[in-house]
Amino acid sequence: MKILETVHDMKLYRQKMTSTVGFIPTMGALHRGHLSLIAKAKQECDGIITSIFVNPTQFNDPKDLAKYPRPLERDLTMARQVGVDVVFLPTAKEMYVDEYRFQIRENQLSKMLCGAHRPGHFEGVLTVVMKLLMITTPDRAYFGEKDYQQFLLIREMAQAFFLPTEIIGLPTVREASGLAMSSRNVRLSKQQRTVAPMLFHELKSGKTPLEIKHNLESAGFTIEYLEEHFGRRFAAVFLGDVRLIDNV
Ligand code: PAJ
Repeated sequence: MKILETVHDMKLYRQKMTSTVGFIPTMGALHRGHLSLIAKAKQECDGIITSIFVNPTQFNDPKDLAKYPRPLERDLTMARQVGVDVVFLPTAKEMYVDEYRFQIRENQLSKMLCGAHRPGHFEGVLTVVMKLLMITTPDRAYFGEKDYQQFLLIREMAQAFFLPTEIIGLPTVREASGLAMSSRNVRLSKQQRTVAPMLFHELKSGKTPLEIKHNLESAGFTIEYLEEHFGRRFAAVFLGDVRLIDNV
């Protein structure tokens, strides 16, 4: 497995990859959710590029950025085990040569749900994904429906800018308890971990949003939003200072 740390090296290596390339961008702390995207890419593509980059511009809360888990050696071992060909590990300095003067902004969907509560978040996501797609020029890029709003925005951005990459969305991978896999789950206390699966079970129940809010709040969740759009039910909640999102 190749580990490339500069944009220059990544672009050079990409030129040598002649068959179908699949790309899975991540912020690391890999789990079975990420691995499901890599597994699908391996079925459909000949060369697999994964990026690990904790993108500072998409964190609206500096504490969240500081506390984001970064188990790099473990990530590299996992990537190697599942047959990733190239891991792209850029620095923030290289990704933002322009010091973030240039940004991708969307004016509708990005202002709802997570966007309404995390100012600047989707500008950060769309800008970094655009940069990563330009550097790796994949045939296909894979995203999880766990972050459904993000997936829609990236797919629509690719259409809007006529990008040659096909954007693929794949279902949310869950723990046996129902809790959606997330890099942030490691920050939950033992007690919070036993409560967290309730989010999924309430969302998929036939209860009204009002009932669900009541039940979650009684169990100790703080609710940021619980809304229905595109035939889906979306929620963002806090357990302590850990923010969890899910949709069904
Ligand atoms: P990250 O949270 O590391 O997620 C990387 C990819 O894995 C995203 O497409 C996300 O939707 C997917 N993913 C996360 N948990 C999942 C789960 N339980 N089941 C299925 N897929 C899951 O999302 C990001 O990073 C960043 O915003 C990024 C796109 C890399 C831009 O910085």
